[in-house]
Amino acid sequence: MALNTVIGAQWGDEGKGKIIDYLSERSDYVIRFHGGNNAGHTIINQFGKFALHLVPSGIFHPKTKVIIGNGVVIDLKVLLEEIQILKKCGIKIKNKLFISPRCHLIMPYHKLLDFLYEKAKGKGRTGTTGRGIGPTYSDKVSYNGIRLVDLLDKKSFSEKLKIQLSLKNKILKALGAKPLKQKNIEKLFYYFREKIQPYVQEPFPIVQNAIKNRKNILLEGAQGTLLDNDWGTYPFVTASTILAGEINAGAGISINKIDQITGIAKAYVTRVGGGPFPTELTNATGKKLRKIGEEFGATTGRARRCGWLDIELLKFACIVNGFTNLAITKLDVLDSFPEIKICTHYTLNGKKVNYFDGDANFLAKVKPIYRTFKGWKKSIKGITKYNNLPKEAKKYIKAIEKLVNVKIMYISVGPKRQEMIKL
Ligand code: GDP
Ligand code: IMO
Ligand code: MG
Repeated sequence: MALNTVIGAQWGDEGKGKIIDYLSERSDYVIRFHGGNNAGHTIINQFGKFALHLVPSGIFHPKTKVIIGNGVVIDLKVLLEEIQILKKCGIKIKNKLFISPRCHLIMPYHKLLDFLYEKAKGKGRTGTTGRGIGPTYSDKVSYNGIRLVDLLDKKSFSEKLKIQLSLKNKILKALGAKPLKQKNIEKLFYYFREKIQPYVQEPFPIVQNAIKNRKNILLEGAQGTLLDNDWGTYPFVTASTILAGEINAGAGISINKIDQITGIAKAYVTRVGGGPFPTELTNATGKKLRKIGEEFGATTGRARRCGWLDIELLKFACIVNGFTNLAITKLDVLDSFPEIKICTHYTLNGKKVNYFDGDANFLAKVKPIYRTFKGWKKSIKGITKYNNLPKEAKKYIKAIEKLVNVKIMYISVGPKRQEMIKL
């Protein structure tokens, strides 16, 4: 395995948590390198059911160490709660979790601004998770961020907070919100500081040593390629870079160290929040996908929009990330469908067009062209060998592989760790 990067190939929630929990059994390190607690990675294993937002999904394996890399933005309240939940379930955290001091902090005003910006945009809102992600990354790139390293030094934190509050309170007031008080934030964050300090350590030498010694490292992507700030459906995207190359900036790992890039895609497509979705099914079939697939957000509980698999988008994700293999998840959700469709390409005004030909408005207008497959109409739960899949399911998998021209290495047939076919 050596160095494997796992990336969402659609609009997030592809089942990355499940796949990473499965793959990391042999990992020495699992590293998050972007996003924040907008992520919700569901894991079901012998310890129970978890929705991890910040702690990397490899935490459950006794020998695996986990790292929150510098590219991640952190809400300390959420992280500390997550650590508590894991500890209560008997998971060891001490000397297993390392957090980069370079991580930017999601401050109370970031969450307020996220809400106020969305409110001001009305119908055109992105439909964010409301976790303050966009405003935190904006402050990071405009040199107004406060990092974990700042919190370790109370004087530095207090000075930086004072400047930021002098700016942010003006905006908050202008948008009709109450200004925030320095002393309240300091009190809260100094409490967080005591709790988080034992886990804060520069991971760069740890990671570089691991690479040198050919340890197994798994990079845990969050969100999905189509939410990428540059290559996604802007402005219906997230604030960070989602693509595989982000491991360089977000974890200090050179891209020439990557051995494998695994793209995770659902056997259909979901999206939560606003933005174009060419294969969306707003009819009874879409409702059926949502019901059987239990398509409700792991972070916000919002109902996910559902639709047929979109090869045009998946092909783009394969190329832009350079996936070396794919994991197809939730194939079992299609068990009872008499017919299953795949969008092979788009047309606009009768001409073939590509995803990258235009922006979000363009994508809202394209016409998806479908190929129809016969369903297998039986349960595939519990199947662990590819040959034991019904022939219609094999045909569906082989068609995807052929259309995107990337090898499918894993097929997930249920939410639990062992519900998996390795090819
Ligand atoms: P992530 O954000 O990519 O980690 O995905 P989420 O955890 O947000 O959403 C995936 C959902 O599908 C979770 O509820 C998982 O438990 C569930 N899941 C993952 N793989 C499978 C699968 O193969 N079959 C079924 N039925 N559910 C799955
Ligand atoms: P995981 O890691 C699905 C979506 C939001 C919204 C847009 C911007 O669980 O796959 P943000 O709060 O990031 O500013 O919201 O991005 N979004 C996700 N959708 N899965 C996620 O993460 C997501 N993280 C953000 O719904 O449309
Ligand atoms: Mg999720």
